[in-house]
Amino acid sequence: MPAASSILSGIRRIKLGHTPTPLERLDRLTRELGGPEIWIKRDDCTGLATGGNKTRKLEFLVADALASGCDTLVTVGKLQSNHARQTAAAAAKVGMSCVLLLERLAVNDTDLYARNGNALLNRLLGAEIVELAPGERTPAFTDAYLAELRAGGALPYFVPVGGSDAVGSIGYAACGIELDAQLTDLGLDAQHVILATGSGGTQAGMVIGLAAAQRSMSTLGFSVSDRAGVQAEKVIGVIGECSVRLGIPAPDPSLVLVEDDTLGPGYGQPDGQTIEAIELFARTEGIILDPVYTGKAAAGLIAGCRSGRFGANERVIFLHTGGQAGAFAYEGTL
Ligand SMILES: Cc1ncc(COP(=O)(O)O)c(C=O)c1O
Repeated sequence: MPAASSILSGIRRIKLGHTPTPLERLDRLTRELGGPEIWIKRDDCTGLATGGNKTRKLEFLVADALASGCDTLVTVGKLQSNHARQTAAAAAKVGMSCVLLLERLAVNDTDLYARNGNALLNRLLGAEIVELAPGERTPAFTDAYLAELRAGGALPYFVPVGGSDAVGSIGYAACGIELDAQLTDLGLDAQHVILATGSGGTQAGMVIGLAAAQRSMSTLGFSVSDRAGVQAEKVIGVIGECSVRLGIPAPDPSLVLVEDDTLGPGYGQPDGQTIEAIELFARTEGIILDPVYTGKAAAGLIAGCRSGRFGANERVIFLHTGGQAGAFAYEGTL
């Protein structure tokens, strides 16, 4: 059987992050919840301007942008997008310009949200920020903006929301392969990887990487924006595109498990379960989660431990995808 990493051979990549990220056992959290054995994959430690999951995607996206002769990264999101902040950092690191088309969040129109956390870091990183009203960031707006940049002589490379296209998602196929190698080195099996799923590329890539490594482990995404059915379709769509790009058969859609029980009132709105999860990780393990993504995935993990869904004899891996910078925009809620 060829090594799983052969699916990445010939794919352009530049090193932006600190990888492999640590894989560690969380003893105190495991004891507190009474099992299963909980491990954490620290993708919050990827290193790029406070780290997070987008760094892995950007290793492939920026390589593609440079190979295409582009000089400006353009991406979209909310004002507190972690993806936008890491895109700005990646552009700075390779000497490209960066334009961020960022929307205010209707449900959190505070000054803190607009100025602190990722918004503050975006300014320090030197990105050009176009601030938009909720709903104003349409595909037509983005296309017109890109056309304007081209007319002004720039060579923009567009990174879609969350970096979750065929190219960016390869970053998480690489992460799945990395995780498999770490488990192999430790001589361990695990039953589930638990993660937050939004634009879908992290889960999609993870499914592809684990399937390439022939590791039978479920990938369970807790949705942070859409209902479970819609989110699962999104992830399956990204798996399809990314598999075509890699020239491999797409893994079976039944491998995509998505739940929305911890979504709360909606995107960017933490509820009591999210806050309890953030406090539990902080107070048992000294690990900081964020209120938009990882806090909701952790709430799903905790609920599954308490309900017995994850058996006491099982082993689960929590993928920490970062986002802590965003917590500084939620002081009022936390
Ligand atoms: C901290 C964090 N975790 C998880 C996600 C979700 O990843 P994806 O958009 O690939 O589904 C994001 C996306 O922005 C994020 O910022």
